[in-house]
Amino acid sequence: MAKARERSSANVPRGRRAAKPSTGPGGLGVGVWTRPHMLGLQDVTPEEMRAVLMKARSFEDEGHAAARRDRGPGSAGPRTALAGFVVANLFFEDSTRTRMSFSLAARRLGAQVLDLSSTDSSINKGETIRDTAANVAAMGVDALVVRHRASGAAALVARAVHESFGVTVVNAGDGKHEHPTQGLLDAYTIGSSFHRLGDFDFRGLRVAIVGDVASSRVARSDIAALTALGAEVICVGPPRLVPRGLEVLGCRVTHDLDEVIGIVDAVNVLRIQFERHGAGKPEPGLHGPLAKPGSAISSLREYAELYGLSVRRVARMKREAVILHPGPINRGVEMTAAVADGDKSVVLKQVGHGIAVRMAVLDLCLHAGRD
Ligand code: NCD
Repeated sequence: MAKARERSSANVPRGRRAAKPSTGPGGLGVGVWTRPHMLGLQDVTPEEMRAVLMKARSFEDEGHAAARRDRGPGSAGPRTALAGFVVANLFFEDSTRTRMSFSLAARRLGAQVLDLSSTDSSINKGETIRDTAANVAAMGVDALVVRHRASGAAALVARAVHESFGVTVVNAGDGKHEHPTQGLLDAYTIGSSFHRLGDFDFRGLRVAIVGDVASSRVARSDIAALTALGAEVICVGPPRLVPRGLEVLGCRVTHDLDEVIGIVDAVNVLRIQFERHGAGKPEPGLHGPLAKPGSAISSLREYAELYGLSVRRVARMKREAVILHPGPINRGVEMTAAVADGDKSVVLKQVGHGIAVRMAVLDLCLHAGRD
């Protein structure tokens, strides 16, 4: 079949490349979503977010069944919305879920996927992220999925590669700034838990984000997505991890988890990101790991006591309430193993929804401005 991309050179700007509009379910999102990049959610409108989420829902509805059908007799053939496209993962920071999820999402739409991580690239030889990105772009890739420890890295890459190569950039986590696909998949999971997949109207829902909000790009994207969709967001944690200043993002702040645990519909629990505190990882102690001097918390035991989700604390939650975690979970710190694996946990559902959301983001961004 005709490829969505028929370019003769990697240098042809996006607008001039021949491309088919999205063949995704129902052409959803086409028209509303016009951005070539997904760099963050803070300036994305509720309508645009809903366009992505609705498209993800269509992929979810049909996708899993179709993926199974495609392998069986009478197969309608694999999805081809991104056939002929090349998506490169540029991960300069560790990742399990996000990288695999983007790879799978791109492959499910028929794209070719390239993988580069900091352990096997010339980053370690002193090459700048701009140079690495420009070199990969010059090979003729269509999208770069970028994770980097510096806030603003994905936007910097977008500026470096879009003008000359017409390459789409998707932010897979930049420092403490944003992780937009995680924000959207968290919103999707909440929508799915409360039967809001029809309109993603979250009015009347209250969500607590508990933990190291100050270091968390996930929290920033979550706050942007959830408040835009109409939910009330309360950030909870000790003052150094959840400073009052976060309220400028449109959420409430409290340092008392027990005050809000019984009134929220969802709790999104975050890992303590010691690697971003400058004090390093906790050291082994007699009664478990001990935070190092200079860390934002003095004792992991005390933290678990005040802010960890235990079975006892979870028993005070609303009957329908759900527990999310972007992963990786430190069992015994932010939640006990029993809670992580318990009835209220939708952690593995989040992982599944992540694929549909990333399919939607790649499809919409790669087709934006091409028809
Ligand atoms: C998070 C990240 O890297 O931002 N994980 C993820 O992408 N699923 C959160 C974390 O590292 O704690």
